[in-house]
Amino acid sequence: MFKTLVVGMLLGMALLAGGGYYYFVSGMAPAAAGDPMMPFEHMLATRSLRAHIEKANIPPPPIAANDETLIAGAKLYKENCAVCHGLPDHTPPVIADNMFPHAPLLFKGKGVSDDPPQESYWKIVNGIRLTGMPAFKSQLNDTQMWQVALLVAGSDKLSDAVKKELMPEPPPDASTAPMAAPAKASAARR
Ligand code: HEC
Repeated sequence: MFKTLVVGMLLGMALLAGGGYYYFVSGMAPAAAGDPMMPFEHMLATRSLRAHIEKANIPPPPIAANDETLIAGAKLYKENCAVCHGLPDHTPPVIADNMFPHAPLLFKGKGVSDDPPQESYWKIVNGIRLTGMPAFKSQLNDTQMWQVALLVAGSDKLSDAVKKELMPEPPPDASTAPMAAPAKASAARR
């Protein structure tokens, strides 16, 4: 009786593992950016991420969220993040909607202003596996990562000075372009 139970359980487990393997190797599992989610994918990924962030137990921000901090954060954001996450009141970047998962627009609606800055800081430091959200720890120093974390955490209550810093750069002046172009072309040939 006990033996049959064990054999039955082992067989069940083997079937489950085999089924899972077949789901991936037969091409049934989604692979393209536009494919729908796998069953339980969102729930499992979100829980795993949350558990990692809780375990990291990040201390409160070591710098104050004043205009000086947030303006520095805005400059970094424009250079490193806007390409995927967009700028306030501006056309969303093409990249945002064509990734899987989508890159959320951090200045649209509440953005991540309902997450503690520690949570965004963790995501900026470490990135988010299999999503396209890069880790910035080898590119930005700790203060810079806090500056940008405080910026996105406070996206719903920025002062005019910070908002001004987040305006897109004006397109290059057309009258100076003809002079610059030939110089570039000759440099490229060398
Ligand atoms: C190449 C595109 C790309 C760049 C560049 C990028 N991100 Fe992301 N980011 C993503 C994607 C995609 C996600 C969604 C991940 C997910 O759904 O779990 C994300 C998620 C996030 C989240 C969590 C959003 C939420 O709703 O919980 C934060 C915060 C964030 N990014 C901040 C930043 C900051 C700050 C920078 C710049 C320092 C940055 N990202 C640069 C693609 C990018």
